[in-house]
Amino acid sequence: MASDAPPGPVLDAFTPAPRTVAEALQQAQAAGIERLDAQLIVCTVLGVPRSWVLAHDGDPLPAGHLGRLLDWLGRRAAGEPFAYLQGEKEFFGLMLRVTPDTLIPRPDTETLVHWALELLPPDQPLSVADLGTGSGAIALAIASQRPRALVTAVDFSAGALAVALGNAERLGLANVRGLQGSWFAPLADQRFDLIASNPPYIAEGDHHLAALHHEPRTALTAGPDGLDDLRHIARLAPAHLKPGGWLLLEHGHDQAPQVQQLLQAAGFTEVSTRFDLGGQPRCTGGQWPAPCQTTG
Ligand SMILES: C[S@@+](CC[C@H](N)C(=O)[O-])C[C@H]1O[C@@H](n2cnc3c(N)ncnc32)[C@H](O)[C@@H]1O
Repeated sequence: MASDAPPGPVLDAFTPAPRTVAEALQQAQAAGIERLDAQLIVCTVLGVPRSWVLAHDGDPLPAGHLGRLLDWLGRRAAGEPFAYLQGEKEFFGLMLRVTPDTLIPRPDTETLVHWALELLPPDQPLSVADLGTGSGAIALAIASQRPRALVTAVDFSAGALAVALGNAERLGLANVRGLQGSWFAPLADQRFDLIASNPPYIAEGDHHLAALHHEPRTALTAGPDGLDDLRHIARLAPAHLKPGGWLLLEHGHDQAPQVQQLLQAAGFTEVSTRFDLGGQPRCTGGQWPAPCQTTG
């Protein structure tokens, strides 16, 4: 039977149990946890600011916190992301709950949100869809900045959708609704002013997956070249966009040429790519043409 306990060497690193903050930080480093990560774990578990940890590292660890501290340090040493330990992650200024059902939102995805906001005038009751919403990151960021827009958040994972809608409720965002299902299936024949998606785009077998094994595989991979979901969305989006509507897609740093081609082949115009904070081509979008006006 599988065990949830951290592997032996990780447990050994915290035996005997640390008595002081300094010992906890030393043992964490010996277990392979970066110092800043270890300090953040200590701060969060003890409920103190980082300045306290720096000034009080000789203090004894309060006994009531030791169990949780060792649990978090063991899980972090075994590779679990800090956001899952804490259960939340900040995105576009919103604090979002995250669980193992959801991808941890990445700062790079803010590029997609900035682009969407440029295209969505604040004073109009526009309709927006976020396909593969996960924690709700894109949907909630747009909904918070465009209170007059109605944002539809779609995910085929019931667990992820529940987290997204819980986040919307906690943040008081009443202009978000959720639909469970695969990509466009739950949308029937609805059309939107803007469709945004950060779908899975990593190729099955990509070596980066090893470092991401705590996040849901269904949020990450899309076929042998990573483009299966992007292909599907680009092909079906025209039937769900109003004339003049936009499709914005996040993708891998080396997939922009293929995604541009997919959008052009589907009939989109104004196809272009935006770069993330690290300077990588990260999002490609296009406009669904409005019918030509004929005169006379
Ligand atoms: C890369 S994650 C993005 C999550 C979130 N939008 C973000 O940016 O943090 C992809 C999301 O797509 C969802 N997904 C995967 N396949 C899907 C499908 N066929 N239909 C709907 N959602 C899907 C996953 O459950 C996951 O939440």
